Amino acid sequence: MKRLTAQQLRQSFLTFFEGKGHTIIPSAPLVPQNDPTVLFTTAGMHPLVPYLLGENHPGGKRVVDVQKCVRTTDIDDVGDNRHLTFFEMLGNWSFGDYFKEDAITWSFEFLTSKDWMDLDPNQLYVSVFAGDDDVPRDDEAIDSWKKAFATHPTKPISAEFSEDVYAFGGANRIFPYNREKNWWQAGDKGPAGPDTEMFIDTEGDLPENMRVKHNHWIKLTGSSERCHINCDCGRFIEVWNNVFMQYNGLGGGKYEPLAQPNVDTGMGLERVLTFSQGQTNVFDTELFKSAFDVIYEQVEETTNLQEDKARIIVDHLRAATFMAADGVVPSNKERGYIMRRILRRAIVHGKMFGMKGDWVEKIVSKYIAEYSIAYPELEQNKRNILNVILEEEQKFGKTLEAGLKEFRKYEQVTGKDAFNLFQSFGIPWEITKELALQSGMSVNKEEFEEEFKKHQELSRTASAGTFKGGLADHSEVVVRMHTATHLLQAALRKVLGDTVSQKGSNITPERLRFDFTHPEKMTPEQISEVEKIVNENIARDLKVTKEIMTPEQARNIGAIGLFGEKYGDTVSIYSILDPATNDVVSREFCGGPHVEHTGEIGKFKIAKEEAVSAGVRRIKAIVE
Ligand code: ALA
Repeated sequence: MKRLTAQQLRQSFLTFFEGKGHTIIPSAPLVPQNDPTVLFTTAGMHPLVPYLLGENHPGGKRVVDVQKCVRTTDIDDVGDNRHLTFFEMLGNWSFGDYFKEDAITWSFEFLTSKDWMDLDPNQLYVSVFAGDDDVPRDDEAIDSWKKAFATHPTKPISAEFSEDVYAFGGANRIFPYNREKNWWQAGDKGPAGPDTEMFIDTEGDLPENMRVKHNHWIKLTGSSERCHINCDCGRFIEVWNNVFMQYNGLGGGKYEPLAQPNVDTGMGLERVLTFSQGQTNVFDTELFKSAFDVIYEQVEETTNLQEDKARIIVDHLRAATFMAADGVVPSNKERGYIMRRILRRAIVHGKMFGMKGDWVEKIVSKYIAEYSIAYPELEQNKRNILNVILEEEQKFGKTLEAGLKEFRKYEQVTGKDAFNLFQSFGIPWEITKELALQSGMSVNKEEFEEEFKKHQELSRTASAGTFKGGLADHSEVVVRMHTATHLLQAALRKVLGDTVSQKGSNITPERLRFDFTHPEKMTPEQISEVEKIVNENIARDLKVTKEIMTPEQARNIGAIGLFGEKYGDTVSIYSILDPATNDVVSREFCGGPHVEHTGEIGKFKIAKEEAVSAGVRRIKAIVE
């Protein structure tokens, strides 16, 4: 296979598909803007869901991209030769344009052509959908692969595999699998379809006599299973998936054909790079070298360094770096919790290796420097990324030592102990579980969850009834401040940039409070500029209107706010606009209530601007 650097591989993929009439589009952020069903962009398709459902993409019917992704479903597998939490997905897309044959022909060409990746087709195996009661076998894909392989004659697959293959209507190197393996959909609802996956054999094209010696029987969850191209032993690595989205999932396993069949492909950059660089392990690519160097500076290679733990460290810190770049802040909720968990897990493993000093900062800084060529947002947000990560490291560092000491006292870890470690020492449940397993103990998750719930109920009762939707009541002054909050957000975005996004809002008759993302303290000039803009918009006596629409429509007209709703639901959008000029000052998802004209608000005054946590600022303001 051709030897490429990561950046050459990205370029090569984009150039290849550009040559096939695709428009190159940039990666969307890791935090989904278009898809409320996931916390992170877990595949190239998430940012493109509206176009897969039929909306016109500005780039046309064929686009190609390199998408940043985070998948935590595989988090327990990180440490093996191929699983990662953050990864880059190379994808080519057809929105109702080309279909199976072109997609497969181009995949084959890109992988095997001497002009592109130059993979020996004898190392390539593919899987296709075998069909079931609802959807037939994907013969079109099988035929397309047969044609592709016929252009580069390959050796017949060895006898050990042929039984699996031919029994289900497959062909040489083309393996049919059931829905569990060869069907793709992101959720119960939405675009779905059969897929075809490409695998590279890490052992290459071995002479037949060596195959006999290879142990094809592996342990899978306690039972023995014969190795096959799609098994989990790590011999065959899936590098690319072509999904043929012909159906729209209606929920409950029901499907209707999509008006336009699409192609959604995803190739794992790190995995292809591994082979391109002559390795069989993603962590041996150039991408992680500098990070490992930081670890090895402090940890003698002769010590009992557990390689998989070092892999966890470099993987998790890379993911946290990209999350921070896209505005995620560690917290105890949703994506903030995922970030906290991976960051703390990396720190715990570092601690257990005896890592000291600014090692986290060094690794993160190396990632920022090396990845900025492909993702300039890292360099642009460097200060914020480091602040967010180092603040979390510091916070956790204060309690970790004591937490580990506490942990060592346990002979058995009860759910209550696990909760105590979380509550008092900030050690996430998953880490306690891992530490317990390493020491040969087990922890009961239900018990932990029970404790967790008990605690949540207590804190809920304590604050129950005080606030609804961030408003203390619907008094006239609160309503005036509520509309002022929308003007405030619009002004902040004007002065500080569109990266400002709301993190919380809470309004009492005494004051409004608005939390938002911004990496640093606002200057006095910025504060007075924001105040001035809000007061100007109050003086313009703009009209406040409410409309009900679908989330898609709302996004199309540029509404900002939380996408907590599911597709198909309607949402209410409040707009503040000048009917004379059609100038839209603010447009947000919101439940109301609001004043009818901004003139009713009164004079707006910022009382305080302060930090809430790394990357999040708070403004308190009043209206008079
Ligand atoms: N959406 C497909 C995947 O993520 C390409 O595997």
